[in-house]
Amino acid sequence: MNIQNIEQYGVAREPFYRVTAGEDVLYEAAYARRMPVMLKGPTGCGKSRFVEYMAWKLRRPLITVACNEDMTASDLVGRFLLDKNGTVWQDGPLTTAARIGAICYLDEIVEARQDTTVVIHPLTDHRRQLPLDKKGELISAHPNFQLVISYNPGYQSLMKDLKQSTKQRFAALDFDYPAADLEAEIVAREAGVDASTADKLVQIAHRTRNLKGHGLDEGISTRLLVYAGQMIAEGVDADAACQMTLVTPLTDDPDMRQTLQAAVETFFV
Ligand SMILES: Nc1ncnc2c1ncn2[C@@H]1O[C@H](COP(=O)(O)OP(=O)(O)O)[C@@H](O)[C@H]1O
Ligand SMILES: [Mg+2]
Repeated sequence: MNIQNIEQYGVAREPFYRVTAGEDVLYEAAYARRMPVMLKGPTGCGKSRFVEYMAWKLRRPLITVACNEDMTASDLVGRFLLDKNGTVWQDGPLTTAARIGAICYLDEIVEARQDTTVVIHPLTDHRRQLPLDKKGELISAHPNFQLVISYNPGYQSLMKDLKQSTKQRFAALDFDYPAADLEAEIVAREAGVDASTADKLVQIAHRTRNLKGHGLDEGISTRLLVYAGQMIAEGVDADAACQMTLVTPLTDDPDMRQTLQAAVETFFV
């Protein structure tokens, strides 16, 4: 492990993050006790941005892992690799984070298989240890190490859910799309559009969020609104910008696309 590369995990500049309900204060208190934290909420509502912001605020390195179903415990913990000198051990991201005292953010944890997820257990109780079975090493986590996971309750199914024994190792913060005026402020700032354009985009999103469960798995996210604003700021016609960022990505169903298109036309004619 190249401990000398710690700087690469630092969050160099303050990420723009608008606090919506005192979540920064709650997170800081949890971090003070190195409590594992779960961020729950729909895709594109600000969970990842929040972790980046908190890592910056607390001056801690951040190591993010995008979880997927092909991920194995070795992908998190590490493995032996062959090189010209023989076999060398290479730490995985979880091990690196535990060694250097980073915040380790496992994004979309439910995507990982349950036999992968259990490797975090010994790090989340009072032992704060990580056994590297293949290497025969037991790591004690650095005092600054903390584990954060994100979780989208909307996608949960019986096949894909966290075990209770995993869930109950975390304190949790609920995330949702910000209130309309806040969200418009975020979109205006992130995309560089005027307040009235941002406001219209947010209103379109609100209409689609009501369609969740009625033909849409999820409504338009804050992330997509920022995309729409960015296209408009690039000089693209609002109608085409919304088509590309708010309608086409969301659904392939022709009727639903028409419904979304109609919502766009209500605000941009
Ligand atoms: N509270 C917020 N403050 C600043 N930007 C936000 C906020 N919430 C959402 N965003 C914007 O939405 C985008 C998507 O958020 P992200 O954190 O990637 O979502 P998630 O991780 O929940 O899927 C961010 O890149 C940012 O532009
Ligand atoms: Mg994310």
